[in-house]
Amino acid sequence: MTNTSPHVARFDGKVAVVTGGAQGIGEGYARALAAEGASVAVADLNREAGSSVVKQIRQDGGKATFVEVDVAQPESAEAMAQAVVDEFGGIDLLVNNAAIYGTMKLDLLLTVPWDYYKRFMSVNLDGALAVTRAVWPHMQARGGGAIVNQSSTAAWLYSGFYGLAKTGVNGLTQQLATELGGNGIRINAIAPGPIDTEATRTVTPGNIVKDMVSKIPLKRMGTPEDLVGMCLFLLSDEASWITGQIFNVDGGQVVRS
Ligand SMILES: NC(=O)c1ccc[n+]([C@@H]2O[C@H](COP(=O)([O-])OP(=O)(O)OC[C@H]3O[C@@H](n4cnc5c(N)ncnc54)[C@H](O)[C@@H]3O)[C@@H](O)[C@H]2O)c1
Repeated sequence: MTNTSPHVARFDGKVAVVTGGAQGIGEGYARALAAEGASVAVADLNREAGSSVVKQIRQDGGKATFVEVDVAQPESAEAMAQAVVDEFGGIDLLVNNAAIYGTMKLDLLLTVPWDYYKRFMSVNLDGALAVTRAVWPHMQARGGGAIVNQSSTAAWLYSGFYGLAKTGVNGLTQQLATELGGNGIRINAIAPGPIDTEATRTVTPGNIVKDMVSKIPLKRMGTPEDLVGMCLFLLSDEASWITGQIFNVDGGQVVRS
């Protein structure tokens, strides 16, 4: 992945947390935020991959740190937020991107083992809430902030447990917009269509991808770079009157009326 040099440092002096920032889409967000001046905390379960993203950002002249977190554990989310404040002095921006995705089981709601289902939901749905709860007081202390949740077009296409969690993320986004708005904290979601990451290559067989792409108006899969513009826009002051919204970035895969 290439790191484009910034024309305008929109996030100079800002501190951003990107969960699931160790690879794939989250890595793209972390690198782009750093390239536009933010100090970035790559918050992930995967220390090895996360540390290598941090190293790359620093080599490119950006500011970054790795913080290990399990977003499903509220205490872990709180310790992560505190570690970021200790290192960078506060938190302004959060991207709730972590999820079980590339390694997920393919199973049905009627048959998926309970233990697996509960862990899955605690990461893919409750994780966004746990991290938001840990981070928002630090944003409030800085006079406000902005949050982006990572949803998916799966929220409209199917409600297996993956889609169900993303439907929940959309609801969470709308409700938290109401609860956080009075503190000057905005929260929106991006719903990407199929993105060509290692995780998608693992979880979705090639023939399914081909069929999916043929039905997408723009006739290709997305890349993490396709999502970066929307994410950084929603985190920036240009979006200062936008909250509680879910934005599809999907080549036209889902048209909502
Ligand atoms: N790739 C796609 O086609 C696509 C499409 C729509 C939405 N999404 C969403 O985008 C996000 C990233 O997708 P990706 O393709 O980069 O996936 P990925 O599997 O490559 O990345 C997920 C990251 O989350 C981390 N993670 C997993 N569980 C965690 C936990 N409990 N605590 C902290 N970190 C944890 C992983 O270590 C990994 O670094 C996910 O929310 C996914 O659901 C992906």
